[in-house]
Amino acid sequence: MRLSFSTVILTALVFFGLTASAVPPGTDDEISARLAPHGNLSRVVATAMPSEALVKAPLSGEEVYGQYCSVCHANGVGGAPLFADTDAWAPRAAKGMEVLMASTLNGIGAMPAKGTCMSCSDDELAGAVTYILDAAR
Ligand code: HEC
Repeated sequence: MRLSFSTVILTALVFFGLTASAVPPGTDDEISARLAPHGNLSRVVATAMPSEALVKAPLSGEEVYGQYCSVCHANGVGGAPLFADTDAWAPRAAKGMEVLMASTLNGIGAMPAKGTCMSCSDDELAGAVTYILDAAR
């Protein structure tokens, strides 16, 4: 029997193509098994590099006030009610914590959102509001 030239070439290409791309069975499983003693890779990375937010200790109300809020509230900038000014704060305090927190988070009048502490958590801002209200009792 005589094979045509093209049939030989085609057969050779198919044969080598298959063997070259074939992956030995079980390879993925073997890699997984070798890595298993070291644990899940994403879990190792998460443990080794905790985000800054998880490591950073929260600021106290006094610290947030001193670093961010006092810029305006210590001097009345833009009409900000003065720190420890009982008369200025009484009508504000009467609004209740929920309303004051909404003002603090969203901003009110000349006061920008979060009182300029964009990195502050809601809890840190609530601590600062409580600190301000306590000083104005
Ligand atoms: C850029 C100046 C500025 C900074 C910084 C600032 N405030 Fe104010 N704040 C104001 C002004 C002005 C008002 C009065 C706004 C008004 O009633 O029109 C105000 C009002 C408030 C009120 C009363 C809101 C209400 O509903 O009556 C709270 C509470 C308050 N500030 C908390 C904070 C806290 C907490 C910080 C710091 C995280 C802060 N502020 C930082 C300017 C500032």
